[in-house]
Amino acid sequence: MGRGDIAAVSALLAVAESVDGHRPLGEHQWLDLVQGGREGFAGLVAWEPGHDHPVGYAQISRGKESWALEFVVDPHHRDRLEPIGADVVGAALDVVANEGGGHVHMWVPKPRPEHDRITYLTGSSTSGEVVSELERVVAGSERVLVILDSDHSRDHVLDELRIYSRFVTPGSYLIVEDTNVNGHPVYPYHGPGPKEAVDAFLAETSEFATDLDCEKFYLTFNPSGYLKKRGAASGSSASA
Ligand SMILES: C[S@@+](CC[C@H](N)C(=O)[O-])C[C@H]1O[C@@H](n2cnc3c(N)ncnc32)[C@H](O)[C@@H]1O
Repeated sequence: MGRGDIAAVSALLAVAESVDGHRPLGEHQWLDLVQGGREGFAGLVAWEPGHDHPVGYAQISRGKESWALEFVVDPHHRDRLEPIGADVVGAALDVVANEGGGHVHMWVPKPRPEHDRITYLTGSSTSGEVVSELERVVAGSERVLVILDSDHSRDHVLDELRIYSRFVTPGSYLIVEDTNVNGHPVYPYHGPGPKEAVDAFLAETSEFATDLDCEKFYLTFNPSGYLKKRGAASGSSASA
């Protein structure tokens, strides 16, 4: 890319960053751009008649085994996000195809709340990787409460209950969200869901019991879904 293009794209990225509250390109991709592009890099700038600035930008870079793709549309032109995005992404994919094709990863950076006490893990809640990472995170914790709120099919929730029940510390809770579906009393056509999973789980363990005290307002998305683990909470003299 020439210096003029780099300056124009830099201005576009600055506007997007100020509107979105985060950088539109990852650090390495940003370096690729300002250094004018290393080998295996391509920047595609979308211009439209009547505007002296680019309306969109896509960037691809070739990795060892795959390509990385990122794109941004000028915030002032996002009423036409789809066509502009499709144009620049399509042009970027054409470059990949002309270079022999391959696996393309598209990064969609979205800000998430950050806090020292929040850790994000990406993966299925029942996958071995996620579960063993969580084991490491909660090891030695005095109090652990688990909320299940992912795939609401009975079998998945039952798997989660079997896996995550051991994380919960005595006197604490395993909360199963949306036990109200499949006719309990809403969404009768859902099919076996969280409530059926809770029933099956409680039939196979005596470690937990439904705590109706958590339903003191009689209206909840989680009827019979507040499962309290038997035993005294650490540091407490009360027993369940
Ligand atoms: C009912 S939403 C709840 C999301 C979140 N708990 C909240 O309150 O905002 C269910 C979420 O679970 C995710 N999900 C579906 N299947 C999953 C799985 N096997 N493992 C982890 N998450 C899953 C979906 O992508 C969706 O974002």
